[in-house]
Amino acid sequence: MIVGMDKSDPGIAQGLQGVYFTESKISDVDGVNGKLYYRGYSIESLAKNSTFEEVCYLLVEGKLPSRREFLGFDRQLRSERQIPKPILGIIDEMTGRAHPMDVLRTAISALPAYDKDAYVETREENLRKSISLISKFGSITAAIGRRMSAKKYVRPDQSLSHAANFLYMLNGKKPTEKQAKVLDLMLILHAEHSSNASTFSTLVTGSTLADLYAAITAGVATLKGPLHGGADEAALKMMREIGEPENTERYIEDALGKREKIMGFGHRVYKTYDPRARIIRSTLEELQKSSSPEVRKLTEIALREEKMMIEKLGKSRGIWPNVDLFSGPVYTSIGIAPDLFTPLFAVSRIPGWCAHMLEYWEHDRLLRPLESYTGPLDIRYVPIGKRS
Ligand code: SDX
Repeated sequence: MIVGMDKSDPGIAQGLQGVYFTESKISDVDGVNGKLYYRGYSIESLAKNSTFEEVCYLLVEGKLPSRREFLGFDRQLRSERQIPKPILGIIDEMTGRAHPMDVLRTAISALPAYDKDAYVETREENLRKSISLISKFGSITAAIGRRMSAKKYVRPDQSLSHAANFLYMLNGKKPTEKQAKVLDLMLILHAEHSSNASTFSTLVTGSTLADLYAAITAGVATLKGPLHGGADEAALKMMREIGEPENTERYIEDALGKREKIMGFGHRVYKTYDPRARIIRSTLEELQKSSSPEVRKLTEIALREEKMMIEKLGKSRGIWPNVDLFSGPVYTSIGIAPDLFTPLFAVSRIPGWCAHMLEYWEHDRLLRPLESYTGPLDIRYVPIGKRS
C-alpha cells in the first residue's frame, strides 16, 4: 500500500515536520542533544581545527583530504574566482535596485552561459561545477558588497585564503589575520545543515534532473526568507530597533504579546541550544575587547534577549537561540553590512547544497509529495453568458 494514498486519512505532516524523505551520510543534526556532525566530525572539532576550504572538501568528497589532495583542491578553488565580465554588468545593473540576495541569485543563474560544460551531468563535471560555484559565490558576493558601497570592483587575490580574499575583494584592503579567522569560522559553522529548507529546495529542483546551476539557484532563492537564512539580517534589525540594552526586555515582552517571532530563536529540529550559536556566542565574547561601542551594545542586547527568551520559552517551549542570534554582531565586528549577511550565509552553504545534490543524484528519485484535496468535485460548467 503506498503511504498517503488513503484519501480518507491522508495523515498530513504540516511543513513535512518529522518526515524522513531520504538517507544521507553528509551531516547529522541531533535536535535533542544539540549536536551537529559533518561527515562524522563534530562541529566543535571542525571549528577548532579545520578551515572552510578543508570543510568544503570534506562535505563534497566525504573525507578529510591528504595534503596533496588539499593543495590540488585549494588551487582549483583559487583558480575559479574570476567573475565573467557580463556578470559584473548584472551586479552593476541590479545593485541598489534589488536586495543583494536577488542580485546574487540572478548572477548565479547566469553562470551557465559562461561554462561550456554547464549541462554535462557526469559526477566529475558536477564536482568541477561545485568547486567553481564555491569559489564564485565568494567573489560574486564580495563584488555585490563592493558595489553596494559604490566602489570599484576589486579583482581576486590568488595568494589569499577564501575568507581573506572575500574580505579583500569587499573592502579593497587585506584583512587582519584575526578578521580572516573569524570569517573562516563563520563559513565553517554555516556550511551544512542536513535537509533545511534551502537544501531541500535544491534537491527538489535537482530531482527533476535539472542541472546543478538550476538546483543551486533554487537553493539561493529559498535561503532568502526571514524564517530561514534571512533571520540573521532580521535579528540584527530587531537589535537595532531595541536600540539600548535597557529596552530589551520590554521590546521582547511586547513582541511576544503580539505573537511576533523573535528572530534568532527557535528551530524546526533543535529543541535545545543550537551548538553553532554556542560557538558564535563565545567568539563574540572573545571579540568584545577589540570591538567598537556599537558591537558591544549589540552584544549586550543579544545576551539580554538570550537570557529572557531562555527563561520564558526555552525550557517550556523548546525555543532556544539558533545560529542567527549572535551572527549579526560578529559580522558587524568585521565590517559586513546587514543586507550582506544572508548572501554570506549562501557563501557558506554552497558546499552543503552541492554535497547533497551530488549524493542525491547517486540514487535520484523525483521528489513529488501529495496534498489532500479538500475542494468540491464535478461542478456543472455554466457558460460565461449565463453566469450571474
Ligand atoms: C535557520 O532548518 C535548518 O536547519 C535551518 C538552519 C540551517 O542551518 O539551515 O538552521 C538555519 O534557518 C535557523 C532558523 C532561523 N529562523 C529564525 O530565527 C526565525 C524565527 N524562528 C521561527 O520562525 C521558528 O522557530 C522557525 C521557523 C525557525 C521554526 O519554526 P517551526 O518549527 O515551524 O515552529 P512554529 O513556527 O510552528 O512554532 C511553534 C510555536 C509557535 O507558537 P504556537 O503558534 O504553537 O502558539 O513556537 C512559536 C510559534 O509562534 N515560536 C516562536 C519562535 N519560534 C517558534 N515564538 C517566538 N519567537 C520565535 N522565534
